[in-house]
Amino acid sequence: MNLTGGWHWHWRAWRSQNRWAPASAQIANWLMAQTMPRQQLVLIGASAGWMLPTAWLAQFDEIQAWDIDPLAAPLFRWRHARDLKRQGTALNLHTGDGLARLTDLVQTMPDAFFWFDNVLGQLRFSSASLDTVDRRLRKLQHTLKPVAWGSVHDRMSGPTMPDTPGPAAHQGRAGLAMESPEGQTWLQEIGAISPWLDHLTERVLPEGTPVQYTAWPFKPGYSHWLEMGWTAAGASRTSSAQFSPT
Ligand SMILES: C[S@@+](CC[C@H](N)C(=O)[O-])C[C@H]1O[C@@H](n2cnc3c(N)ncnc32)[C@H](O)[C@@H]1O
Repeated sequence: MNLTGGWHWHWRAWRSQNRWAPASAQIANWLMAQTMPRQQLVLIGASAGWMLPTAWLAQFDEIQAWDIDPLAAPLFRWRHARDLKRQGTALNLHTGDGLARLTDLVQTMPDAFFWFDNVLGQLRFSSASLDTVDRRLRKLQHTLKPVAWGSVHDRMSGPTMPDTPGPAAHQGRAGLAMESPEGQTWLQEIGAISPWLDHLTERVLPEGTPVQYTAWPFKPGYSHWLEMGWTAAGASRTSSAQFSPT
């Protein structure tokens, strides 16, 4: 069962476009301002690209997008394909597990930019144990070391005070502990009411990577703390010796 995609995700995303617009704009502004390579894009967890700016996608010559959801490809095409074609971006949409294919994709597309689009923070909802998910997420830095890559993912999510205005985006560094003064200030700005759920993504990006935090008002009274960042090829700071082969 796909707990983070499928028709319920599309239905919520379609209905929530207005509420999500400020968060989508913060993501779009951040993406457009980055200097990642823009020839080939490998997009994992593309869905219909509900929160992805077409203008950023159109800067790539070629897109290879993966989602396990069979509805993702037709809906992505519906939302983005016409503009991408007009701008000359070749679009290839695949239905399948992009994470399971990662090692192969890195080998076959070493010059591509790999972007995980709000998918890594959802792995904790799989049937695997939290320890297994944590190990899998930390291993990504090693798998992706030969390529430029980045991710937008949930750091935490939970209930919020009613009518909290959405805060401006916050610029920081990857690896911030939520117990730190900076983490606590950010949670206060979002209007977080304890308890919040940890999405196990604190160590996905190499520690110290410049990141942006965006508050995403997922539904009334419930928000997500999104973190986005990217890193050049070879920039991982985690040694492969830390990982078991599974
Ligand atoms: C929260 S949604 C994000 C959707 C998308 N980024 C957007 O803006 O609409 C997470 C997506 O990741 C997809 N997904 C989950 N596991 C995946 C995997 N192993 N490979 C590819 N896609 C996956 C789900 O089907 C879902 O569409």
